Amino acid sequence: MLILNKIKEIKDEFNLELSNVKNIQELDTLKNKYLSRKGLVASLFTMMGTLSSQDRPIAGNELNNLKKYLNDKISSHILIQSSEIKISTKIDYTLPGANLKNGTVHPLTKTVLMIEDIFQKIGFSIAYGPEIDSDFYNFEALNIPRHHPARDMQDTFYLNDGNVLRTHTSNSQIHFMMDNEPPVRIIAPGRVYRNEDVSVRSYCLFHQIEGLYVDKNVSFSDLKSVLNYFARELFGNDVKTRFRPSYFPFTEPSAEMDVYWGLNSESDKRITKGTGWLEILGCGMVDPEVFKNVKYDHSLYSGYAFGVGIERIAMLLYGVEDIREFYKGDTRFLGQFR
Ligand code: DAH
Repeated sequence: MLILNKIKEIKDEFNLELSNVKNIQELDTLKNKYLSRKGLVASLFTMMGTLSSQDRPIAGNELNNLKKYLNDKISSHILIQSSEIKISTKIDYTLPGANLKNGTVHPLTKTVLMIEDIFQKIGFSIAYGPEIDSDFYNFEALNIPRHHPARDMQDTFYLNDGNVLRTHTSNSQIHFMMDNEPPVRIIAPGRVYRNEDVSVRSYCLFHQIEGLYVDKNVSFSDLKSVLNYFARELFGNDVKTRFRPSYFPFTEPSAEMDVYWGLNSESDKRITKGTGWLEILGCGMVDPEVFKNVKYDHSLYSGYAFGVGIERIAMLLYGVEDIREFYKGDTRFLGQFR
């Protein structure tokens, strides 16, 4: 077989060249010549397609052996080289140490930690749901059947295996209730995905915090008082809030909560669309259909749920006007959150 001769030639040539290598750079060049993606070994692999089905496994085996042989030779060479370097290097202990820079906590993480803190103070614990989830957890169990128009509210990334990238943290509600008996008192932060046009206001991924409270005799006024407490803790005692009726398939009745942001500056006018009010979350009483789906007794239990957009809150708290800043990893931006 021609290829077997080639393999032997390459091995001999390699050994010869390796014996002439004088430093790490040359070793690197040698490694590239033989083992890189366009290297000699790779080019032999491409010849495999031309072989008969009997020859192919034999040649494949030999080629793999060659690759391992070259790799081993090069690694052991590096060891020798670097131990030589160690011996020959003098260390000057009087030199000042390298100045390692401290990182900063990402503004979105900061916001999540702050919100977690607010809810933990009143007895909520933290739960998590998966970012890749089945249609059932992200939609069906939340009372959003296939072909329901409410699916249009969330532009979804469907994966080839039939799963979805979760479009909201509400999937965590279902996971938690499936795994735990009531009473439930959790918040569930996390990343969510939607196939939206990227702009100053929206991105293909963002973050939410889900809240879920289930017990006997839970009422809408419990929901209002907890969310008002949340707004006061976050924005200060004299924050003004309002609840507007809304629609979510998994809550009934549903509402959105706005905070009064004021109209003091041009930017206030812009972000509140001239009203002074800004929506910060969706909420409502858990729909009995959802309880049925997780096998909770809906004649015994009631509950409320809410979903808060983290980016929205972080933009308000830190005066960030372009949502894309959060995802660039630009240290000039992130360094301001020390
Ligand atoms: N999942 C909703 C969304 O992403 C937000 C939401 C609304 C969550 C109401 C809730 C809720 O838990 O009760 O738009």
